[in-house]
Amino acid sequence: MLAMKFKLLGVTVIAIAATAIITSCSDKRSTGWEYAPNMYEHLAYDPDQPNPNFKDGKTAQLPPVHTIPIGWVTFDYPNTHDGYEASGTEVTSPLPQTQANFADGQALFLHFCSPCHGVEGQGDGEVTKHGFPPPPSYSKGQSSRGGDMKDLTDGKIYHTITYGLNAMGSYASQLAPEERWKVVMYIHHLQTL
Ligand code: HEC
Repeated sequence: MLAMKFKLLGVTVIAIAATAIITSCSDKRSTGWEYAPNMYEHLAYDPDQPNPNFKDGKTAQLPPVHTIPIGWVTFDYPNTHDGYEASGTEVTSPLPQTQANFADGQALFLHFCSPCHGVEGQGDGEVTKHGFPPPPSYSKGQSSRGGDMKDLTDGKIYHTITYGLNAMGSYASQLAPEERWKVVMYIHHLQTL
């Protein structure tokens, strides 16, 4: 009697498993049994969907003119020589001189800048040994825009990190404004070496 029961149970389990396998294979394009379908067919509009709630019928709306994203830091100095000079006299670092900011600046400098500028900012980074034009030393060199490198101000260095200069690319997409200011703090130290 007990053996019969087990046999019946076995047959039932096999039948269910076989049905599951067969039905899941019958339609190759079917996603099968959807768990929590509103994760796929959600109520919110996708950015590329038509949307009757807006005049132009689109979901992805442009931000209103003259607005900036939350947390955006404006830097209204263009990538021109005049912009560089103006930034050099008008812009100063908003960061306090703390040991933590200095240490962050050092770490960021070693990561992003030292391959060209060298660990001590002498313009002898690793890539200069493989044919890359060496940048001038921060403490002893001359800026190609005039003046000694050791006299570069907060605003001039920040402008350079933001836009780059000739063979040096912009670091605006790698370094957030606050990180740029930390690097500036560390470069002021290298200017004294
Ligand atoms: C790919 C190599 C390279 C990297 C990486 C690099 N630089 Fe430069 N940098 C240069 C070169 C080359 C110059 C000289 C450009 C010129 O005067 O034509 C330069 C010039 C400068 C100057 C002098 C600007 C002036 O006004 O004369 C500063 C300041 C500077 N870099 C800062 C940085 C900082 C900060 C970083 C890291 C965030 C960095 N650089 C990363 C190659 C590099």
